[in-house]
Amino acid sequence: MEILDGKKISNQIKEEITVEVAQMKERGEKVPHLAAVLVGNDGASLTYVGSKVRSCKKIGFESTLIHLPEETTEEDLLKQVHQLNNDPAIDGYIVQLPLPKHIDEEKVLMAVDPDKDVDGFHPTNFGKMALDMETFISATPFGIMELLKRYNVDTEGKHTVVIGRSHIVGRPISILMSQKGKPGNSTVTLAHSRTQNLKELTLQADIVISALGVPRFLKADMVKEGVVIIDVGITRVADDTKEKGYYITGDVDFDNVSKKASFITPVPGGVGPMTIAMLLKNTLLARERHNN
Ligand code: GUN
Repeated sequence: MEILDGKKISNQIKEEITVEVAQMKERGEKVPHLAAVLVGNDGASLTYVGSKVRSCKKIGFESTLIHLPEETTEEDLLKQVHQLNNDPAIDGYIVQLPLPKHIDEEKVLMAVDPDKDVDGFHPTNFGKMALDMETFISATPFGIMELLKRYNVDTEGKHTVVIGRSHIVGRPISILMSQKGKPGNSTVTLAHSRTQNLKELTLQADIVISALGVPRFLKADMVKEGVVIIDVGITRVADDTKEKGYYITGDVDFDNVSKKASFITPVPGGVGPMTIAMLLKNTLLARERHNN
Protein backbone atom coordinates (compact mmCIF):
# COMPACT_ATOMS: atom_id res chain seq x y z
CA MET A 1 0.00 0.00 0.00
CA GLU A 2 1.28 3.43 -0.93
CA ILE A 3 0.02 6.68 0.56
CA LEU A 4 -0.91 9.32 -2.00
CA ASP A 5 0.78 12.12 -0.10
CA GLY A 6 -1.10 15.27 -1.03
CA LYS A 7 0.86 17.39 1.40
CA LYS A 8 4.17 16.40 -0.18
CA ILE A 9 2.95 16.81 -3.78
CA SER A 10 1.22 20.11 -3.02
CA ASN A 11 4.49 21.41 -1.56
CA GLN A 12 6.30 20.34 -4.74
CA ILE A 13 3.74 22.18 -6.87
CA LYS A 14 3.99 25.27 -4.67
CA GLU A 15 7.79 25.18 -5.01
CA GLU A 16 7.45 24.96 -8.81
CA ILE A 17 5.09 27.96 -8.79
CA THR A 18 7.44 29.90 -6.48
CA VAL A 19 10.24 29.51 -9.05
CA GLU A 20 7.96 30.71 -11.85
CA VAL A 21 6.83 33.74 -9.83
CA ALA A 22 10.43 34.66 -9.04
CA GLN A 23 11.20 34.52 -12.77
CA MET A 24 8.19 36.74 -13.52
CA LYS A 25 9.51 39.27 -10.99
CA GLU A 26 12.98 39.17 -12.54
CA ARG A 27 11.48 39.93 -15.93
CA GLY A 28 9.74 42.93 -14.37
CA GLU A 29 6.29 41.37 -14.88
CA LYS A 30 3.36 41.72 -12.55
CA VAL A 31 3.00 38.75 -10.19
CA PRO A 32 -0.31 36.83 -9.94
CA HIS A 33 -2.93 38.37 -7.68
CA LEU A 34 -5.68 36.20 -6.17
CA ALA A 35 -8.67 37.63 -4.33
CA ALA A 36 -11.05 35.66 -2.12
CA VAL A 37 -14.51 36.78 -1.08
CA LEU A 38 -15.85 35.31 2.15
CA VAL A 39 -19.35 36.09 3.36
CA GLY A 40 -20.09 35.39 7.03
CA ASN A 41 -18.14 33.45 9.64
CA ASP A 42 -18.50 29.75 8.85
CA GLY A 43 -15.64 28.08 10.75
CA ALA A 44 -14.48 25.73 7.98
CA SER A 45 -14.67 28.49 5.33
CA LEU A 46 -12.62 30.84 7.52
CA THR A 47 -9.96 28.12 7.84
CA TYR A 48 -9.90 27.34 4.08
CA VAL A 49 -9.80 30.96 2.96
CA GLY A 50 -7.14 31.82 5.56
CA SER A 51 -5.04 28.95 4.29
CA LYS A 52 -5.47 30.04 0.64
CA VAL A 53 -4.38 33.60 1.43
CA ARG A 54 -1.39 32.43 3.53
CA SER A 55 -0.27 30.15 0.70
CA CYS A 56 -0.33 33.11 -1.72
CA LYS A 57 2.03 35.07 0.53
CA LYS A 58 4.42 32.11 0.83
CA ILE A 59 4.83 31.62 -2.91
CA GLY A 60 5.11 35.30 -3.82
CA PHE A 61 1.58 36.00 -5.11
CA GLU A 62 -0.34 39.07 -4.13
CA SER A 63 -3.61 38.35 -2.36
CA THR A 64 -6.67 40.20 -1.16
CA LEU A 65 -9.21 38.87 1.31
CA ILE A 66 -12.62 40.51 1.15
CA HIS A 67 -14.50 39.48 4.28
CA LEU A 68 -18.13 40.60 4.22
CA PRO A 69 -20.66 40.30 7.06
CA GLU A 70 -23.23 37.49 7.16
CA GLU A 71 -26.04 40.03 6.51
CA THR A 72 -24.54 41.16 3.17
CA THR A 73 -27.32 41.37 0.58
CA GLU A 74 -27.20 39.56 -2.74
CA GLU A 75 -27.14 42.94 -4.45
CA ASP A 76 -24.10 44.10 -2.49
CA LEU A 77 -22.27 40.84 -3.14
CA LEU A 78 -23.01 41.14 -6.87
CA LYS A 79 -21.60 44.69 -6.76
CA GLN A 80 -18.44 43.29 -5.18
CA VAL A 81 -18.22 40.66 -7.90
CA HIS A 82 -18.56 43.28 -10.66
CA GLN A 83 -15.89 45.38 -8.98
CA LEU A 84 -13.49 42.42 -9.03
CA ASN A 85 -14.37 41.67 -12.67
CA ASN A 86 -13.40 45.24 -13.58
CA ASP A 87 -10.28 45.53 -11.41
CA PRO A 88 -7.23 45.05 -13.66
CA ALA A 89 -5.03 44.36 -10.62
CA ILE A 90 -6.91 41.11 -9.88
CA ASP A 91 -5.99 38.10 -12.07
CA GLY A 92 -8.39 35.66 -10.51
CA TYR A 93 -10.76 35.39 -7.58
CA ILE A 94 -13.02 33.00 -5.76
CA VAL A 95 -16.26 33.42 -3.87
CA GLN A 96 -16.02 30.91 -1.04
CA LEU A 97 -18.96 28.53 -0.77
CA PRO A 98 -21.34 27.92 0.88
CA LEU A 99 -22.93 31.36 0.82
CA PRO A 100 -25.55 32.40 3.40
CA LYS A 101 -29.02 31.03 2.57
CA HIS A 102 -30.52 34.39 1.56
CA ILE A 103 -28.06 34.66 -1.36
CA ASP A 104 -28.65 32.83 -4.65
CA GLU A 105 -25.36 31.00 -5.19
CA GLU A 106 -26.04 30.34 -8.87
CA LYS A 107 -26.65 34.03 -9.57
CA VAL A 108 -23.37 34.97 -7.94
CA LEU A 109 -21.31 32.29 -9.70
CA MET A 110 -22.87 33.27 -13.04
CA ALA A 111 -21.72 36.88 -12.47
CA VAL A 112 -18.03 35.95 -12.15
CA ASP A 113 -15.99 36.81 -15.27
CA PRO A 114 -15.04 33.38 -16.71
CA ASP A 115 -11.52 34.71 -17.40
CA LYS A 116 -11.06 35.36 -13.67
CA ASP A 117 -12.96 32.28 -12.47
CA VAL A 118 -9.99 30.36 -11.03
CA ASP A 119 -12.48 28.07 -9.24
CA GLY A 120 -13.74 26.89 -12.65
CA PHE A 121 -17.35 27.05 -11.41
CA HIS A 122 -18.78 29.26 -14.19
CA PRO A 123 -20.84 27.31 -16.78
CA THR A 124 -18.49 28.54 -19.52
CA ASN A 125 -15.51 26.97 -17.79
CA PHE A 126 -17.36 23.83 -16.70
CA GLY A 127 -18.62 23.40 -20.27
CA LYS A 128 -15.13 23.84 -21.71
CA MET A 129 -13.81 21.26 -19.25
CA ALA A 130 -16.51 18.79 -20.33
CA LEU A 131 -15.55 19.38 -23.98
CA ASP A 132 -11.78 18.84 -23.42
CA MET A 133 -11.06 22.50 -24.09
CA GLU A 134 -8.38 24.47 -22.26
CA THR A 135 -9.93 26.17 -19.23
CA PHE A 136 -9.78 26.50 -15.45
CA ILE A 137 -10.49 23.08 -13.97
CA SER A 138 -11.98 23.25 -10.45
CA ALA A 139 -9.26 22.91 -7.86
CA THR A 140 -10.41 19.69 -6.14
CA PRO A 141 -10.91 17.53 -9.27
CA PHE A 142 -7.78 19.12 -10.79
CA GLY A 143 -5.88 18.19 -7.61
CA ILE A 144 -7.09 14.58 -7.75
CA MET A 145 -5.99 14.26 -11.40
CA GLU A 146 -2.58 15.76 -10.58
CA LEU A 147 -2.10 13.40 -7.62
CA LEU A 148 -2.93 10.37 -9.79
CA LYS A 149 -0.57 11.67 -12.47
CA ARG A 150 2.40 12.30 -10.19
CA TYR A 151 2.08 8.87 -8.56
CA ASN A 152 1.67 7.30 -12.00
CA VAL A 153 -1.53 5.53 -10.93
CA ASP A 154 -2.86 3.46 -13.83
CA THR A 155 -6.41 4.55 -14.68
CA GLU A 156 -6.60 3.32 -18.29
CA GLY A 157 -9.56 0.99 -18.80
CA LYS A 158 -10.11 0.77 -15.05
CA HIS A 159 -13.53 0.96 -13.43
CA THR A 160 -13.80 4.14 -11.38
CA VAL A 161 -16.73 4.53 -9.00
CA VAL A 162 -17.34 8.13 -7.94
CA ILE A 163 -19.58 8.56 -4.90
CA GLY A 164 -21.35 11.92 -4.86
CA ARG A 165 -22.63 14.12 -7.71
CA SER A 166 -21.80 17.60 -6.39
CA HIS A 167 -21.04 20.33 -8.92
CA ILE A 168 -17.68 20.98 -7.23
CA VAL A 169 -16.29 17.43 -7.05
CA GLY A 170 -18.36 14.38 -8.04
CA ARG A 171 -19.75 15.59 -11.37
CA PRO A 172 -16.51 17.14 -12.70
CA ILE A 173 -14.24 14.28 -11.56
CA SER A 174 -16.59 11.76 -13.21
CA ILE A 175 -16.10 13.63 -16.50
CA LEU A 176 -12.33 14.05 -16.15
CA MET A 177 -11.74 10.38 -15.30
CA SER A 178 -13.62 9.31 -18.42
CA GLN A 179 -11.81 11.72 -20.76
CA LYS A 180 -9.09 10.60 -23.13
CA GLY A 181 -5.70 11.02 -21.51
CA LYS A 182 -3.43 10.02 -18.69
CA PRO A 183 -4.84 9.97 -16.11
CA GLY A 184 -8.23 9.26 -17.66
CA ASN A 185 -9.59 6.64 -20.06
CA SER A 186 -11.44 5.17 -17.13
CA THR A 187 -14.89 3.56 -17.21
CA VAL A 188 -16.85 5.68 -14.77
CA THR A 189 -19.88 4.96 -12.61
CA LEU A 190 -21.30 8.01 -10.82
CA ALA A 191 -23.10 6.88 -7.68
CA HIS A 192 -25.20 9.14 -5.45
CA SER A 193 -27.82 9.16 -2.71
CA ARG A 194 -30.42 7.39 -4.92
CA THR A 195 -28.05 4.65 -6.08
CA GLN A 196 -29.20 1.15 -5.25
CA ASN A 197 -26.73 -1.54 -4.19
CA LEU A 198 -23.79 0.81 -3.83
CA LYS A 199 -21.72 -1.94 -2.24
CA GLU A 200 -22.13 -4.10 -5.37
CA LEU A 201 -20.66 -1.25 -7.39
CA THR A 202 -17.79 -0.36 -5.05
CA LEU A 203 -16.83 -4.06 -4.87
CA GLN A 204 -16.30 -3.96 -8.65
CA ALA A 205 -14.30 -0.74 -8.55
CA ASP A 206 -10.59 -0.50 -9.34
CA ILE A 207 -10.69 3.12 -8.17
CA VAL A 208 -13.12 4.65 -5.65
CA ILE A 209 -13.41 8.43 -5.40
CA SER A 210 -15.59 9.31 -2.44
CA ALA A 211 -16.99 12.84 -2.12
CA LEU A 212 -19.87 12.21 0.22
CA GLY A 213 -19.10 13.93 3.52
CA VAL A 214 -20.17 11.02 5.72
CA PRO A 215 -17.41 10.10 8.20
CA ARG A 216 -15.93 6.59 7.70
CA PHE A 217 -18.75 5.60 5.33
CA LEU A 218 -16.61 3.39 3.08
CA LYS A 219 -15.72 0.19 4.94
CA ALA A 220 -13.19 -2.53 4.11
CA ASP A 221 -15.92 -5.03 3.15
CA MET A 222 -17.11 -2.63 0.43
CA VAL A 223 -13.88 -2.68 -1.63
CA LYS A 224 -11.75 -5.26 -3.36
CA GLU A 225 -8.06 -6.07 -2.83
CA GLY A 226 -5.73 -3.65 -4.62
CA VAL A 227 -8.28 -0.84 -4.91
CA VAL A 228 -7.15 2.79 -5.33
CA ILE A 229 -8.91 5.06 -2.83
CA ILE A 230 -9.35 8.83 -3.19
CA ASP A 231 -11.05 10.26 -0.11
CA VAL A 232 -12.44 13.74 -0.70
CA GLY A 233 -14.46 13.89 2.53
CA ILE A 234 -13.39 16.43 5.13
CA THR A 235 -15.81 16.34 8.05
CA ARG A 236 -15.37 17.99 11.43
CA VAL A 237 -16.44 15.61 14.19
CA ALA A 238 -17.07 17.17 17.62
CA ASP A 239 -14.59 15.92 20.22
CA ASP A 240 -14.09 17.66 23.57
CA THR A 241 -10.77 15.92 24.15
CA LYS A 242 -9.26 17.85 21.20
CA GLU A 243 -7.89 21.35 21.61
CA LYS A 244 -10.04 22.71 18.79
CA GLY A 245 -13.12 20.83 20.01
CA TYR A 246 -13.23 18.63 16.88
CA TYR A 247 -11.18 16.33 14.72
CA ILE A 248 -11.13 15.97 10.94
CA THR A 249 -12.08 12.72 9.25
CA GLY A 250 -12.72 11.50 5.73
CA ASP A 251 -15.38 9.31 4.07
CA VAL A 252 -13.16 6.24 4.37
CA ASP A 253 -12.51 3.91 7.30
CA PHE A 254 -8.80 4.45 6.67
CA ASP A 255 -7.33 1.99 9.20
CA ASN A 256 -9.16 -0.99 7.69
CA VAL A 257 -9.58 0.04 4.04
CA SER A 258 -5.86 0.92 3.72
CA LYS A 259 -5.02 -2.77 4.40
CA LYS A 260 -6.69 -3.71 1.09
CA ALA A 261 -5.71 -0.67 -0.97
CA SER A 262 -2.83 -0.30 -3.44
CA PHE A 263 -2.94 3.49 -3.13
CA ILE A 264 -4.91 5.63 -0.69
CA THR A 265 -5.17 9.32 0.23
CA PRO A 266 -5.12 10.15 3.94
CA VAL A 267 -7.39 12.74 5.59
CA PRO A 268 -6.00 15.20 6.43
CA GLY A 269 -2.99 15.46 4.10
CA GLY A 270 -4.46 13.98 0.91
CA VAL A 271 -6.82 15.79 -1.44
CA GLY A 272 -7.20 18.89 0.82
CA PRO A 273 -3.73 20.37 0.32
CA MET A 274 -3.88 19.55 -3.41
CA THR A 275 -6.97 21.76 -3.73
CA ILE A 276 -5.06 24.81 -2.54
CA ALA A 277 -2.06 24.06 -4.76
CA MET A 278 -4.27 23.78 -7.86
CA LEU A 279 -6.09 27.02 -7.05
CA LEU A 280 -2.68 28.69 -7.02
CA LYS A 281 -1.82 26.95 -10.29
CA ASN A 282 -5.04 28.30 -11.86
CA THR A 283 -4.20 31.80 -10.64
CA LEU A 284 -0.76 31.52 -12.25
CA LEU A 285 -2.44 30.39 -15.49
CA ALA A 286 -4.83 33.36 -15.28
CA ARG A 287 -1.87 35.75 -14.92
CA GLU A 288 -0.06 34.14 -17.84
CA ARG A 289 -3.17 34.41 -20.01
CA HIS A 290 -3.54 38.07 -19.13
CA ASN A 291 0.13 38.61 -20.10
CA ASN A 292 -0.32 36.97 -23.49
N1 GUN B 1 -16.14 25.46 -0.73
C1 GUN B 1 -15.65 24.19 -0.66
N2 GUN B 1 -14.74 23.98 -1.63
C2 GUN B 1 -14.63 25.14 -2.31
C3 GUN B 1 -13.84 25.54 -3.42
O1 GUN B 1 -13.04 24.78 -4.00
N3 GUN B 1 -14.01 26.83 -3.83
C4 GUN B 1 -14.89 27.68 -3.23
N4 GUN B 1 -15.00 28.91 -3.73
N5 GUN B 1 -15.65 27.33 -2.21
C5 GUN B 1 -15.51 26.06 -1.75
